[in-house]
Amino acid sequence: MKQIAVLASGRGSNLEAILEAERRGELSGQVVLVISDRRDALALEKAERAGVKALFLDPEDYDGRESYDQALIDQLKSAGIGLVVLAGFMRLLSPLFVRSFPQQILNIHPSLLPAFPGTDGVEQAFAHGVKVTGCTVHFVDEGLDSGPIILQEAVPVIQRETVRTLQERIHGAEHRLYPTAIDLFCRDRLKVEGRRCYIIE
Ligand code: GAR
Repeated sequence: MKQIAVLASGRGSNLEAILEAERRGELSGQVVLVISDRRDALALEKAERAGVKALFLDPEDYDGRESYDQALIDQLKSAGIGLVVLAGFMRLLSPLFVRSFPQQILNIHPSLLPAFPGTDGVEQAFAHGVKVTGCTVHFVDEGLDSGPIILQEAVPVIQRETVRTLQERIHGAEHRLYPTAIDLFCRDRLKVEGRRCYIIE
């Protein structure tokens, strides 16, 4: 059984969806640790409520990205983590971190990558006037939202809707997509060749 850590900075709705999938027996891995870079992240409360170890690592306690990432690595390695799941973790991870967990880090992004990477993926797509957007689960590499794509779900933009309603529907898609991708990873059903990620039957 893979030991999973979730890194989250915000409200933790994806974390919640992952924990619910685990509770329903739909995840062949176990979330054992949640780490946040924000003291007030709702994700920490949600982890504690589910009986999962929750840890706040304060970036202000470290001088620079690499030393913070080294602290993260130490925590994850000592917990025997085999999969790192980024769920709204709003820090760019250093190459040191990425190399410490080769093809063991997943991220979810609220657009159909490679369109609209970075922060505010939903707002960027909405402002651009696209008719279809969505969400993407991908492996993390050393670039910005640029690793091999595992799964994507399209979400149509409805005429006259607001960025807020679009965001809600994208969240709904994320909550389906992320547990599915994590389960595929935990069952060793993902194989990466170059930029392409194959799902093994
Ligand atoms: C999600 O929509 C996720 O796609 C996004 O942050 C949100 C976190 O929501 N991530 C990024 O934009 C990464 N670039 P949550 O805290 O409710 O799971």
